[in-house]
Amino acid sequence: MKKINGDFFNKSIVSVDQFSKADIEILFELAAEYKKGISNGMVFNDLNGKILTALFYEPSSRTIGSFLGAMQRLGGGIIPIHGILNTSVVKGEILTDTINIFQSYSDVIAIRHPEAGAAEIAAKAAYIPVINAGDGTGEHPTQGLLDLFTILEKLQRTNNLKVAIVGDLKYGRTAHSLSKLISIYPKNTLYFISPPQSPMPDEVVKIVKKNGAVVKTAKSIEEVLKTIDVLYMTRVQKERMEEEVYEKMKNSFILTGKMARAMKKDSLIMHPLPRVGEITMDVDSNPRAMYLKHQMRNGMFIRMALLRLVLKK
Ligand code: NCD
Repeated sequence: MKKINGDFFNKSIVSVDQFSKADIEILFELAAEYKKGISNGMVFNDLNGKILTALFYEPSSRTIGSFLGAMQRLGGGIIPIHGILNTSVVKGEILTDTINIFQSYSDVIAIRHPEAGAAEIAAKAAYIPVINAGDGTGEHPTQGLLDLFTILEKLQRTNNLKVAIVGDLKYGRTAHSLSKLISIYPKNTLYFISPPQSPMPDEVVKIVKKNGAVVKTAKSIEEVLKTIDVLYMTRVQKERMEEEVYEKMKNSFILTGKMARAMKKDSLIMHPLPRVGEITMDVDSNPRAMYLKHQMRNGMFIRMALLRLVLKK
């Protein structure tokens, strides 16, 4: 896909590979402006008259909710397609035809699809911008960006970080997007911690190393717990594997309140959510915990900024 190269207008956003540091800066600056404005009760009309189709073939709560909220907070309209059960897709309609329909009605499409690569196919078929809201085991660029935004906001830097990414790294798309984003900043070390059945895909490891990050692996969270700046937990992607593989992988890594308290004072505990047991509830009140409030809310501001940038010069 086309690099953003300082100009988001009318571009589809399929992968974090499209972003340079300067592009991220433009996005984060606008997201921070929206965050400040909304927090002060401001009302925005930047996307008055524009319409977003949220075309979600897979379950979603946060991503669809924040995309729809983001569009409406900018004065835009929405066509929410939440699940395909009641659409022509069940009649056998192909993806590119579905895209064609919704681009006739709207100005931008956010798509979530169970197959990796589907967002790119949709983007290539569309004359309006398409935003990848998660494509199977591929990527989830807006989640990676909101994660990075939260790290910058809380730690005041995106470099010189030790970040542990934990869980089902083969199938977890948020882990792919965030790892690649972190790797473009200097002096970062990524610790990939996964069950043996589900390592970080080679293609992601290659990109991350090429970008200059140091890549290490660890067998347990405890090995790195006291030295890391960010602990990024993820769930096992049950829906993407055989039941018996899931049974072997589930509960591989669990963060407890006691472990969380042993972490560095200025460190962050993150999770894209939903969690299914990887973080026990007694971690929630730990000041390092970012997942219930900060990451979620930042997601809406990142999506506001992205929608605004792709829809208007
Ligand atoms: C993630 C996703 O859909 O990839 N959820 C989200 O968008 N916050 C993570 C997950 O489902 O495990």
